[in-house]
Amino acid sequence: MILMEHIIREGHPVLRTRTEEVTFPLTKEDRKLAEEMLQYLINSQDEEMVEKYNLRPGIGLAANQVNSLKRMFALHLEDDKGEQLSFVAINPKIVSHSVEQTYIESGEGCLSVDRVVPGYVPRYARITVKFMTVDGKEQKMRLKGLPAIAFQHELDHLNGIMFFDRINEQNPFAEIPDATPFIRE
Ligand code: NI
Repeated sequence: MILMEHIIREGHPVLRTRTEEVTFPLTKEDRKLAEEMLQYLINSQDEEMVEKYNLRPGIGLAANQVNSLKRMFALHLEDDKGEQLSFVAINPKIVSHSVEQTYIESGEGCLSVDRVVPGYVPRYARITVKFMTVDGKEQKMRLKGLPAIAFQHELDHLNGIMFFDRINEQNPFAEIPDATPFIRE
């Protein structure tokens, strides 16, 4: 079971390392990693589990955040229609994206970052993505809103990029061209 003590924090080189494509069929270890990453997110959104294990709530987790260089991440969140999205994306790719951008008005956070980093993180407003599922099926998806933002945040992790790399250093709250803010309740 993944706990906070297993989550790699900023400063560790694994967070700056590009992860490697996963081959299919998955090994037992790869499958276990995928299941455990998703389970962490599910647990972290369950009040009882949060209290019992002192978990920090999260909606996404990438393999290098738990010290693995496998190209996979988990997402567990609701879309803007209140529908639950819960999956592990293996060898994920953005196949196309909108010109329009977005950003979370209150900024982004990360399980690997124990501080608030203020500023807007520009993201594509809509993306079409492809990835492999745990069962080796190719999945294509269109995402917008929070799921699109979270997907881009996690894909960045797999390329060694942290969210704050994308914040304007001179002016963290500089207006982002062609962007509509995403307001998180
Ligand atoms: Ni993160």
